[in-house]
Amino acid sequence: MTDAPLLTPDFDVWPIGRRPTAVALTGTDVVVTWTDASTSRFDIWWLIDNSPMPEHINRATREATLDLSTLPDDFHATAATVEPSGALYVTWSHGIASSRYHPGWLAAHAYDGGGFVADDRPTPIAWGADTMAEPPSFDGSAILEDDTTLEAWLTAVAVYGFGRLRGVSTAPDTVNTVARHIGTVRETNFGRVFDVRSKVDPDSNAYTALELTPHVDLPTREYQPGLQILHCLENTAPGGEAVMVDGLRIARFLVEHEPETYRILTTERFTFQNRSKTSDYRWLSPVIVLDPTTNAPVEVRIAGFLRGPTDLPADRTGPAYRALRRIFALSRDPRFQIRYGYRPGDLVLFDNRRLMHGRAAFDPSAGSRWLQGIYLERDELHSRLRILRRNARARTAVATA
Ligand SMILES: [Fe+2]
Repeated sequence: MTDAPLLTPDFDVWPIGRRPTAVALTGTDVVVTWTDASTSRFDIWWLIDNSPMPEHINRATREATLDLSTLPDDFHATAATVEPSGALYVTWSHGIASSRYHPGWLAAHAYDGGGFVADDRPTPIAWGADTMAEPPSFDGSAILEDDTTLEAWLTAVAVYGFGRLRGVSTAPDTVNTVARHIGTVRETNFGRVFDVRSKVDPDSNAYTALELTPHVDLPTREYQPGLQILHCLENTAPGGEAVMVDGLRIARFLVEHEPETYRILTTERFTFQNRSKTSDYRWLSPVIVLDPTTNAPVEVRIAGFLRGPTDLPADRTGPAYRALRRIFALSRDPRFQIRYGYRPGDLVLFDNRRLMHGRAAFDPSAGSRWLQGIYLERDELHSRLRILRRNARARTAVATA
């Protein structure tokens, strides 16, 4: 078996650093000792579930073909050895084909003692006016070719909820090109690319010259868009200053200082509804949405102009409105806001389920103001970041081969 190629159950590249030096079977665990003398336990069910062998996965798709429910309850490893290449070789009971694990892949996925955490998204850093003055900014003039800047920009969005490129082409539809460079675009009833400028017959307050209080877009949908891009093509109109607020920071403030307001905003279902002539989108949700497993806030749904009548019991309606008015007030509190102007060529990507955005009123009679916008999902950003890191690993592997 030692001449067989080292397979992995994915399309990734896993440079070999530390490698197994010894292995032992202990109950239902395969215990690996590494070159740095540390040890990791691997459960046999985890190992067979992640076996890269053609008997267990489709090598074309790298997706599993082995149905775990077909294995007997007393399925077990009969032997385990470390090959000279560092590969872990495990033979299985009940005639199941043996598995051979790439040492780089195994080290990178050692979940017990190896540091592997499946949820690799960067930890968000909540901010307010005390810690943030301007959007994290990057030179976007070559964003389609410059993967280093792309990774830095997307990482900033994952951590702070937003990031700004400057010097991007002001050709119309560039926002679509940049979005597609990240991932799949989400089209809505406002189209694929929407033009944010004052219109004669607007179907949203966004398409007027009015002030927009801090809000998220499309909270009226079961799944509100995770990401939004706004790209400035023209801006000579007085006013129209952009506002950004970190909903995560406000949620944490409420946890600490106003727990009853926080309780109401995380439990009462408010009605979000659009009032279009041709559509009637409606979704009911708390204003602050919690992760069901960690109870940490993961989403805010706030839009003063996209709500419908609530149907809460009478004795809970007054408190719900008090809490709602309070979070509106906090979103307008300068402690939580940053304000900045848009220059032609500025392109801001932000987390539409975490940050609230707004703008000051502007005067369309004294100049032009034209932004183009587009939506994507958070998944697209994280997938792109992982592929960028995968490509970097591949380059490292080639350079050191
Ligand atoms: Fe908006």
